[in-house]
Amino acid sequence: MARDDIDITLPDLAGRRVVLTGGSDGMGLIMADRLAAAGADLVLPVRNRAKGEAVAVRLRTKNPGARVSLHDLDLSSLASVRSFGTALTAEGAPVHLLINNAGVMTPPVRPHRLGRSRQRARVQRPTGLQPVEDRAGALRARPR
Ligand SMILES: NC(=O)c1ccc[n+]([C@@H]2O[C@H](COP(=O)([O-])OP(=O)(O)OC[C@H]3O[C@@H](n4cnc5c(N)ncnc54)[C@H](OP(=O)(O)O)[C@@H]3O)[C@@H](O)[C@H]2O)c1
Repeated sequence: MARDDIDITLPDLAGRRVVLTGGSDGMGLIMADRLAAAGADLVLPVRNRAKGEAVAVRLRTKNPGARVSLHDLDLSSLASVRSFGTALTAEGAPVHLLINNAGVMTPPVRPHRLGRSRQRARVQRPTGLQPVEDRAGALRARPR
């Protein structure tokens, strides 16, 4: 059966801070492009800085004026997740949208060093983000 293209019109996201994991490739890269085009203040936590820098350049070239910043994050390491959460919290700005996209599809079964599967890395709670998430929750509860 033929499928219709799925498209979603994004609202103006100027002034909205969006954290997107896995924005350096695949579906995340497409989301990053759409979010940057919509004017979001885009935060891309990446495990490969060089790849992230190349993506940021590409996003800024395609979307002049795009606000893109990078952070280091390896979701297979809880220390890295905590460190990212701490760094983000220290910036003091609210996170309006957190998109936990990073992960890999059906990887070979090989537990990482914490015993969780790499596929599930995407649902690992960034514990250090709790204060940021609390603030985002408070914002959601308030009309714009
Ligand atoms: N594609 C599908 O058909 C499909 C279907 C259902 C669900 N999904 C899920 O949708 C998400 C995106 O899929 P995709 O196909 O777009 O994946 P992809 O092309 O493999 O991209 C995965 C992204 O996640 C990042 N990433 C992977 N492991 C990471 C880690 N340990 N720490 C930080 N970043 C990490 C990658 O970073 P690098 O650039 O450094 O590699 C990349 O940016 C995944 O969670 C996947 O399980 C995909």
